[in-house]
Amino acid sequence: MVRVIFLCALSSGFLWAQSNPKLGVYSSRHYDVDHEINELFTQSTGIEVQFLQIKEAAQLVEKVKLEAKRTPADVIITVDVGNLWRAKEAGILQSIQSDFLFETIEPSLRDSASQWFALSKRARVLVYNKEKVKAEELSTYENLADPRWKSRLLVRTSTHVYNQSLTASLFASLGEKQAEAWIKGVTANLARKPEGGDTDQIKAVAAGVGDIALVNSYYVARIFQSKDKGDQELAKKLGVFFPNQKDRGTHINVSGGGVTKYASNKENAIKYLEFLLSEKAQKLYADANHEYPVNKTVKIDSVLQNFGEFKADQIGLDKVGANTPAAIRLMDKVGWR
Ligand SMILES: [Fe+2]
Repeated sequence: MVRVIFLCALSSGFLWAQSNPKLGVYSSRHYDVDHEINELFTQSTGIEVQFLQIKEAAQLVEKVKLEAKRTPADVIITVDVGNLWRAKEAGILQSIQSDFLFETIEPSLRDSASQWFALSKRARVLVYNKEKVKAEELSTYENLADPRWKSRLLVRTSTHVYNQSLTASLFASLGEKQAEAWIKGVTANLARKPEGGDTDQIKAVAAGVGDIALVNSYYVARIFQSKDKGDQELAKKLGVFFPNQKDRGTHINVSGGGVTKYASNKENAIKYLEFLLSEKAQKLYADANHEYPVNKTVKIDSVLQNFGEFKADQIGLDKVGANTPAAIRLMDKVGWR
């Protein structure tokens, strides 16, 4: 008798756990704040988030593709439109309807078929050594190809999606010929063979290895707000410049997410994306990683505010994504390592 009651208790507990609303999320973002946001989401909706971090975006896409209808992922989150575009191309996402997402996210920051949506923005800016370069000498990304910058530029390899997306945006805006000439010019002006990540380029500018680096805005912000004395010394030497302010604007990119094709909790998945765009979550994204919020009601972080306002390139990011394969071919052809 005792055993029967025990089994009943166990099975009712199991049933309760099963009926508790759930959501599966795969993410290739790696920030502590994402766990905090998940907890807030569970608190406000009762939906339990099963969160799996996957190191590389390509692995994430492959995993969801292989799992197909059995995937536990209802939502995927990744960085850079190049990766979001690849996820869409791989057929692992579905179009969704959400008035809140459509109203909150400007059209250039979401997929035209509503398969992915931006969660946060970053700008690809120039960082320069103030002892070697005057801000007045800087103007556009195109200008970096000018021979005057010979042996003075720093940028990471072309295998990284940040450079692939920037080149894709130039390809989309200027056409193939000019994009090819730009890659040739920039690679001819490099101060060293591409090595390291964006932070390494910033430090190399401060150390005098080169005079100008092409980097994402949040890496610069991290050094500018760092409590480390060494970083504070570096920051004193550096200036930040937003290219192309007199024409199309500075290239921006996003981290973003979408609902998987075979999501078994589609409604919860949409609720989750809407929560990520809410003021509460956007503020956490913005403050924790110095990214620009997508929800315009949220203030930008004070370090970014000090960099000044800027005009962002309004080109649809889905267009940038679609030009990525052509940009990669061109970078390979010219020999940007
Ligand atoms: Fe990054």
